[in-house]
Amino acid sequence: MTTSTASTTNRRLLDWVEHWSGILQPAGVEWCEGTEAECDELNSKLVDSGTFVALAESKRPKSFLSRSDPADVARVEDRTFICSEREIDAGPTNNWRDPAEMKTTLTALYRGAMRGRTMYVVPFSMGPLGSPIAHIGVQLTDSAYVAVNMRIMTRMGTPVLDALGVDGSFVPCVHSVGYPLVLADGSTRPDVAWPCDADNKFIAHFPESRQIWSYGSGYGGNALLGKKCFALRIASTMARDGGWLAEHMLVLGVTPPGGEKRYVAAAFPSACGKTNMAMMIPALPGWKVETIGDDIAWMKFGADGRLYAINPEAGFFGVAPGTSKKTNANAVAMLSEHCIFTNVAQTDDGDVWWEGLTDEPPPRLTDWRGRPWTPASPTPAAHPNARFTAPADQCPSIAPEWQDPRGVPISAILFGGRRATTVPLVTEARSWEHGVFLGSLMSSESTAAAEGKVGRVRFDPFAMRPFAGYHVGDYFAHWLDVGVRGKAATLPRLFWVNWFRRGEDGRYLWPGFGDNARVLAWVLARVAGGGEAVETPIGSVPAPGAVDVSGLDVSDDDMAELLKVDTDEWRHELGLIERHFAEVGDRLPPALRDELAQLERRLAD
Ligand code: GTP
Ligand code: SPV
Ligand code: MN
Repeated sequence: MTTSTASTTNRRLLDWVEHWSGILQPAGVEWCEGTEAECDELNSKLVDSGTFVALAESKRPKSFLSRSDPADVARVEDRTFICSEREIDAGPTNNWRDPAEMKTTLTALYRGAMRGRTMYVVPFSMGPLGSPIAHIGVQLTDSAYVAVNMRIMTRMGTPVLDALGVDGSFVPCVHSVGYPLVLADGSTRPDVAWPCDADNKFIAHFPESRQIWSYGSGYGGNALLGKKCFALRIASTMARDGGWLAEHMLVLGVTPPGGEKRYVAAAFPSACGKTNMAMMIPALPGWKVETIGDDIAWMKFGADGRLYAINPEAGFFGVAPGTSKKTNANAVAMLSEHCIFTNVAQTDDGDVWWEGLTDEPPPRLTDWRGRPWTPASPTPAAHPNARFTAPADQCPSIAPEWQDPRGVPISAILFGGRRATTVPLVTEARSWEHGVFLGSLMSSESTAAAEGKVGRVRFDPFAMRPFAGYHVGDYFAHWLDVGVRGKAATLPRLFWVNWFRRGEDGRYLWPGFGDNARVLAWVLARVAGGGEAVETPIGSVPAPGAVDVSGLDVSDDDMAELLKVDTDEWRHELGLIERHFAEVGDRLPPALRDELAQLERRLAD
């Protein structure tokens, strides 16, 4: 087992690594430099240990497949904790634990947790190195799988230590899969392909001291700590304190034919189409959409008073099932090499497959659990949350300016959920405050909607329910505060969208995907002072004919249904909103209660 030397003189970092080595007791410590040679070495090690299957060089060069433990396939929201000093500060949408108690519990689990393993020290930057919007973290992990994923998802390695310098500060992130190879009594056990603690997981955040402690899982947002833990939960508290925004949003650039490029951010809940929209191929001739990011946006005010966004990530960790040439051709092209696939199926010729990739499934596959699979098998070949990890610069639609350290100026922000009824295709907010009100009402319907019935509505404000690192009422107040800091003329305009409205017969009324460019076109027209609109009690919707549906097979009736604000549905919705706001409790900003009262009045008129 090797122990590499640190190329840093940052005392705080060196002391912190030494402190944790003492507790975790790894067999060796390796500082990740981020080079390709190092990555190749880690990949071969992962192949040797059975964590990775190397895909056929002729099909998918330099790419690997990993099958997780079936008990470790997604983020674990019920094991995710915000350990603020006071319980009230975590709010009603987070699990809270006393920070001292949590540290005691976790320190006991961490003691000796890395025995027999290498501890990787992973320095990473969220955002382009040196950007005034970027921040640095360092993750300790006993998972080489995590280290190579972090190399794709973040700017990782020695350049980050250089940027950190002698006295720079970083967000400390501790991670162990919780599967030591040497047990407390000194006996040893062999490694497994996907080490984890199958029944004890903790994803803990300490917002006041800005620390992340994760134990027991190697999957996605539980383990790649730069993503949800840092870039959303911890960063949202940093953003609250610093007057900026850390959001669960895609960012794209859109250029009309002969027009100027504008930038749009959009918040949709997990698995609701951020990756699709970020990489959209517009159905409108002559229009161009370019990708800045597909999951997280950090936005700060520039000197000109506009909000500038960066994508803090350097790769895409996207849902594989449903990704095809039809739904996302840019993603399919991006996945042709240098990728990691987790929990997808494997073909006989050493390639990957997932539901939706092709119309016809291959006759024989190895499923995500490593078992033989045929189209007659009762279970899916890929896990529904199977994901790819791909470098952002491999995406054909990536914007040339995606790494601009200044970020890109945002003209409009879209909020979208998955609603079968009630919420129109697109609605423009009446003001920033009203937009914050609409963002606070984002919601998705469970799929009784598939039969055209109203499903159970789950509110997911700003798509941040699992990701706001503090009280959701304070989070709303912060959004209102951003509106006070900004000027109406330079703040992004706020819109509500819903690609998922269904007809009586249960079918989607809107074709979605590339045709969402038609909605973007109306949004840009509104931003430019045009775009015909009609007032409704919930905001402005496109006037009949204002959304360009040329070449599209959507009937006038369907279009009317898509844009309808049904007073009865909205009276019913008011009751749901009341309950949702009651859950937020007495930290609900009065301005939002006021918006609700105004909505009630407009609906009564
Ligand atoms: P996370 O990575 O989990 O944060 O999610 P994401 O928002 O990036 O989700 P993703 O792009 O993986 O969501 C894909 C899902 O959204 C699939 O079920 C798609 O079919 C669906 N989807 C995306 N765009 C559209 C659309 O325009 N219309 C419809 N009906 N479905 C869409
Ligand atoms: C999400 O769940 O919103 C994701 C995937 O983007 S994960 O990184 O696993 O959280
Ligand atoms: Mn996400």
